[in-house]
Amino acid sequence: MSDDLGPQITDVLSELHEQFAVAGIEDPAVDAELLLGHVLGEKRGRVQALAIMGTRLTAAQYERLIALGGYRAERVPLQHLTGLAPFRELELRVGPGVFVPRPETETVAQFAIDALAASTAPTPLAVDLCTGSGALALALATEVSTARVWAVEKSEEAHAWAAENVAALGDGRVELIHGDLADFAHGQLAPSELMGRVDVVVSNPPYVPDAMVPRDPEVRDHDPELALYGGDDGLDVIRVISRVAAPLLVVGGTLVLEHAEGQGAAIRELLARDGWQTPATHPDLTGRDRATTALK
Ligand SMILES: C[S@@+](CC[C@H](N)C(=O)[O-])C[C@H]1O[C@@H](n2cnc3c(N)ncnc32)[C@H](O)[C@@H]1O
Repeated sequence: MSDDLGPQITDVLSELHEQFAVAGIEDPAVDAELLLGHVLGEKRGRVQALAIMGTRLTAAQYERLIALGGYRAERVPLQHLTGLAPFRELELRVGPGVFVPRPETETVAQFAIDALAASTAPTPLAVDLCTGSGALALALATEVSTARVWAVEKSEEAHAWAAENVAALGDGRVELIHGDLADFAHGQLAPSELMGRVDVVVSNPPYVPDAMVPRDPEVRDHDPELALYGGDDGLDVIRVISRVAAPLLVVGGTLVLEHAEGQGAAIRELLARDGWQTPATHPDLTGRDRATTALK
């Protein structure tokens, strides 16, 4: 073994796996492979193939991996270490100050994409309230190629991440707006031509009740508070969205909301009180009620 060769990939993966398992990480083997893939600039499948072939890391690669592994064991989100979060067909730039997009939101996106794709307008219009990294807005724009999308974000830090993602992936069809969604229907933020013309309003808002501090350190210590908490019952922002979305939408337009399991009934009730038609709650791929839709 020459001086600059480090250990075999299989041994490094075992070492990281054990360190991550002890740290309480949910999928230690997956995280070990993804982190090594990041250091090598390779996909996870290629990392597995290199391990089987008995490949060794260089000493420099090993040193870098051990440093990153130390942060991961302290429960810094994997996506903050790689700088990237996968979301549907996209890879979004993320880091401190922005909510890391979640797999369950990919299912929520599908409701919005289906409704937008069903529009007969030559240029269907959508609004993503609470865009964070831009995940939902960019999924809509990339998967409905004729659509134009407006994305609203209040946090300065999150808005900066979204701006980067919109510039890289938005195809010139996503308009990012920095501000509070409460102002979006009041003429201060929303362009007047949008009012009554939008086909879909989608949002993954903050919906955690204030007293329910998440247990996972990745969420509790690294997702911004503004992205998580929604007042006593978690529904404060959703109540505002219900009022802001209605004047934006065309008659028959669709509202799509992500929420926590157990909030569906309360959300359907508040939407019905605000005059929304056919509020319906839908399960995600694991059978948990995580999205509610309604029509104007
Ligand atoms: C749960 S995160 C969702 C981010 C992104 N849509 C996603 O699914 O990954 C909620 C986002 O809403 C933003 N936000 C919270 N209150 C807001 C408000 N009143 N107006 C606009 N954005 C808000 C937060 O800063 C955060 O980026």
